[in-house]
Amino acid sequence: MMAGGADARRFEACIRGGGVALFGADTVYGLACAPDDPDAVSRLYELKRRPSGKAAAVMFFSVAAALRALGGSLGPRTLEALGRLLPGGVTVLLDNPARLFPLACAEDPATLGLRVVSIPQLAGVSVPVLQSSANLAGGPDARRLEDVPAELRAAVDLVVDGGELPGVPSTVLDLRRFERGGADTARVLRAGAVGEQAIAAALAGQFHFDPATYDELIHDDIPSYDALQDAVAEAAAAGRVHVGSMLELGTGTGETARRLLARLPGAAFVGVDESAAMLEAATAALAGFGERVALRVARLQDPLPEGPFELVASALCVHHLTGAEKADLFARVRAVLSPGGRFVLGDVVVPDDTAAATTSLTPGYDRPDTVADQLRWLAEAGFEARLVWSQGDLAVIVAATAVGRVEGR
Ligand SMILES: C[S@@+](CC[C@H](N)C(=O)[O-])C[C@H]1O[C@@H](n2cnc3c(N)ncnc32)[C@H](O)[C@@H]1O
Repeated sequence: MMAGGADARRFEACIRGGGVALFGADTVYGLACAPDDPDAVSRLYELKRRPSGKAAAVMFFSVAAALRALGGSLGPRTLEALGRLLPGGVTVLLDNPARLFPLACAEDPATLGLRVVSIPQLAGVSVPVLQSSANLAGGPDARRLEDVPAELRAAVDLVVDGGELPGVPSTVLDLRRFERGGADTARVLRAGAVGEQAIAAALAGQFHFDPATYDELIHDDIPSYDALQDAVAEAAAAGRVHVGSMLELGTGTGETARRLLARLPGAAFVGVDESAAMLEAATAALAGFGERVALRVARLQDPLPEGPFELVASALCVHHLTGAEKADLFARVRAVLSPGGRFVLGDVVVPDDTAAATTSLTPGYDRPDTVADQLRWLAEAGFEARLVWSQGDLAVIVAATAVGRVEGR
């Protein structure tokens, strides 16, 4: 598949044609070429006078493309961590038992440096690239195109001007021992764009969402888990004769999805979750629903799949967002719902009675808000919303676009 916009198409054509491109990444300016083209790789190294024995990272332009290329060689813990860290300003060092991308790995073929970026200008680029910062070896990183040495700008085959960039290079995170050793074995080798706290939170999230133990842990932690799931499915289906399309936010291992698909038999289902490992489990759990189901690795903070959807539902996921992120998500949910569409939100909340807060929470990862705040943000997003179910610190809210009436209990 060819890339989307004009810059993305030119970039992909340059890489496929064996050229070297200068482009704005999500951090600083970089040089890129095909990672398996020896001539292009030596030219890139020569241009910036980088010693040939030094490794460079392989960059993908979507998590899905990276997982297609590497997924088979990664263990579930690592997949889970990558799902939480990427796309983003992190270069992750991974074990490379299959010896993929040997030219990029240089003198250490057992280690692969992985970057996954989300750059709107280069969205849709389907080829991976070998990339290195656009400077002369040892020189400063370039925040603006003008900061890139003139000789590099003149020598490359393509320049994609990304405007002014944040200017801080990626954090280099070593996850080579993570699969067996867990978060304590992860090492930040270079501080950079993503802070240590965010890295630690991403790696700690691992514990919560291991698909192998999820079911047992969530039932232990939330005794009313099944009641909440049933309330979400009921609120989604209540008063509706037919729903043709639905989107679930935070599909996890597919427990909410299974109930929604059963209650709304005509509906095509799109599920998103940041964890590739959880979605792998969901793929197996939802196999019986055949082609009705499409699952995508994405964060709720990313653009939502294009609608329109008649239903958007979510259980136990939105509370991972900050208040501002929730308000922003609600506006984006409103935009992908069709007229008369419905948003059903089942989640952990901050209850009025603090003694009712029984769900165990991880600071920095679980960020519940009150029902009142969430109703207000929903109203600001253009919804008519109300609470239809609650038990302790769990709640189900139904929000309708102005054209539709709020159904539910
Ligand atoms: C508790 S599980 C809920 C799964 C399912 N809905 C259920 O009720 O069993 C939460 C899910 O949200 C996902 N998640 C957490 N934060 C997310 C984010 N910012 N974007 C997308 N998914 C996220 C996690 O990977 C996990 O699979």
